[in-house]
Amino acid sequence: PQDTARTADGELSIGGVAASELAETYGTPLYVLSETDFRARARQFREAFSAAFAASGEAEGTGVDVYYAGKAFLSTHAARWAAEEGLNIDTASGGELAIALAAGIDPARIGLHGNNKSDAEIRRAVELGLGRIIADSVEEIERISVIASAMGRTATVLLRLTPGVHASTHEYIATAHEDQKFGLSLSPHGPTPDVETDAANPYLGSPAWTAVERALAAEGVELVGLHCHIGSQIFEPEGFELAADKLIAFLARIESVYGVALTELDLGGGHGIAYTEADQPRHPAEIAAALAAAVRASCAEHGIGLPQISIEPGRSIVGPAGVTLYTTGTTKDVVVDDGITRRYIAVDGGMGDNPRPVLYDADYSAVLASRSITGTHILSRIVGKHCESGDIVVRNVYLPPAVSRGDILAVPATGAYCHSLSSNYNYLTRPPVVAVSNGAAQVLIEGETVDQMLARDTGYTGSGAAAQP
Ligand code: LLP
Repeated sequence: PQDTARTADGELSIGGVAASELAETYGTPLYVLSETDFRARARQFREAFSAAFAASGEAEGTGVDVYYAGKAFLSTHAARWAAEEGLNIDTASGGELAIALAAGIDPARIGLHGNNKSDAEIRRAVELGLGRIIADSVEEIERISVIASAMGRTATVLLRLTPGVHASTHEYIATAHEDQKFGLSLSPHGPTPDVETDAANPYLGSPAWTAVERALAAEGVELVGLHCHIGSQIFEPEGFELAADKLIAFLARIESVYGVALTELDLGGGHGIAYTEADQPRHPAEIAAALAAAVRASCAEHGIGLPQISIEPGRSIVGPAGVTLYTTGTTKDVVVDDGITRRYIAVDGGMGDNPRPVLYDADYSAVLASRSITGTHILSRIVGKHCESGDIVVRNVYLPPAVSRGDILAVPATGAYCHSLSSNYNYLTRPPVVAVSNGAAQVLIEGETVDQMLARDTGYTGSGAAAQP
């Protein structure tokens, strides 16, 4: 987080609270989230994108709606912070929706995603009058229609399309085949069609076109726009630009065939963050400026007005705001193949609180938080305490050789997809989440106890009370 510093005696402090104080009060492993940093990033996204899309000579400066993607991390406090900074909330399940509602978020400012929404989820969304349901299949449009019309309601719907652009970090693949579960393909078969070279409607027979036809005709459904999400951890704007262009061409075709101008275009999330020093993401303002220019050019080219743009960042808002604190336990020096020695430093958590290294080969960094030691650092690997050799927290990091049992290590950039992906593997309890801000700490989510885990075991008689070791 931006408000990370060293105290006079060399200790790491986050949001003005010393790491040792946090570890002592709440135990480790501990997820620490800087409220100040979270809010600053939320604001930065809203301001950067709104400015880019509003600051044109044109009369129509529509601004941008930013939906915070709760899947990255959601709690009632975090939802309120996002809302207070002017963001809406994107949910991907009835559970996430329940948290947003419990936070008091206005349903009109909530979106619901999901490639396999249950009838109960759809019914809830319709009865609440959610701002938008992002439909992921033709079949879902029919289900929304049946449910909404039975309730005498109209659901506001966006269609999730797959524009044939897949992006990740520096690379994107265009006109890829859509062999994945999300969204509706723009193509009747094969790669996404190129409208410039095809005078007849090239979308006819595609899942996306069929979905538009059905959605425009369906009772209880108000189709307002299109959506796409092209990937994760994206650093460059080109993938977003290309996807926007494909969707704008499609919007223009809908307008010319049906005379209906869909007014909303959601370009999803996926904005990249720095996990290690090797990652150099661009400032949101740079992405926003490039994207706004491309969207304007594309609207002009296809002869349609600028739609209301929305985005759904998750990781880029909460990821850098989080740090995980661990206490060091056993260390081992292992001579590796190439003759060098690697120090294995085991900590009191691991893949249960951060499965991203084992799931995605994700890289993290770490620093010694309990003290500052200068001098030569040695090649170290931070591992967890789970029964798997893949249980690695930080694959390669240089740390002072004096790091020893009882030291506190901090792993930055763990605010996104760590708590939300956490598990009880090996029956380790899930750590608490604590927010820090201006020298004060506040528990957002309590840590789990062994008693709570045992309470779900129907054979547990309650005898031999489970004290947490
Ligand atoms: N909108 C939609 C429709 C999405 O599917 C996602 C992420 C987002 C927004 C937010 O993307 P973000 O800005 O956070 O990258 N567990 C993986 C990431 C899965 C992302 C799934 N969808 C990870 O830890 O890297």
